[in-house]
Amino acid sequence: MISKLADIHYIRQKVAAGLGHAVLCAEKHIGNNPFAVLLGDAITLSDNPCTKELIKHFNKLDSSVVAVERVPKEEVSRYGIIKAEKVDEYLYKVIDLVEKPAPKDAPSDLAMLGRYVLTPTIFETLAKTDPGLGGEIQLTDALKLLLEKEEIYAFEVTGPRYDIGNKVSWIKATIELALMSEEFGPELKAYLKELLN
Ligand code: G1P
Repeated sequence: MISKLADIHYIRQKVAAGLGHAVLCAEKHIGNNPFAVLLGDAITLSDNPCTKELIKHFNKLDSSVVAVERVPKEEVSRYGIIKAEKVDEYLYKVIDLVEKPAPKDAPSDLAMLGRYVLTPTIFETLAKTDPGLGGEIQLTDALKLLLEKEEIYAFEVTGPRYDIGNKVSWIKATIELALMSEEFGPELKAYLKELLN
């Protein structure tokens, strides 16, 4: 018997109308099921994989869960930031969310890093979400609307995270991760040493 790993579907977002709009494009493949959103420009490293942890908390809480990380105050304007109350170690109940606030307006230093496990109710709220920052449909704004109907929790990730959304950090992440690899690490380390000398 041939076993299959998964059915892969893809859809292209034909206009750059924001992360929220991109998620809405996937609705027909998801239907009325909970689902995970993994932004490709964030790589997280941990013995307990980030999305697996989110799914674990989702199943326990029966609510959407977003991954957050503490960021320096001057970097909050790069992220969706949550206002939250702590309910357990590394676990928060979300009270409010704001997309890319100025440091003076940020409700905390807990930034969404690009991993979400969401209830399908988000599709209703995304459909009602007006364009926000940059004229785009923001997932953060839809989550804020979702809060009116359902609870949302945040799981704080503490392991290393690589942002590969810009060229230099992509190169750095590639080098660091290759150095950690058993297959490529030793050869690459010797090569880099030689190159730098
Ligand atoms: C998106 C989200 C933002 C989140 C970030 C994580 O922003 O809108 O809330 O914090 O991803 O990388 P982008 O990086 O696409 O501007």
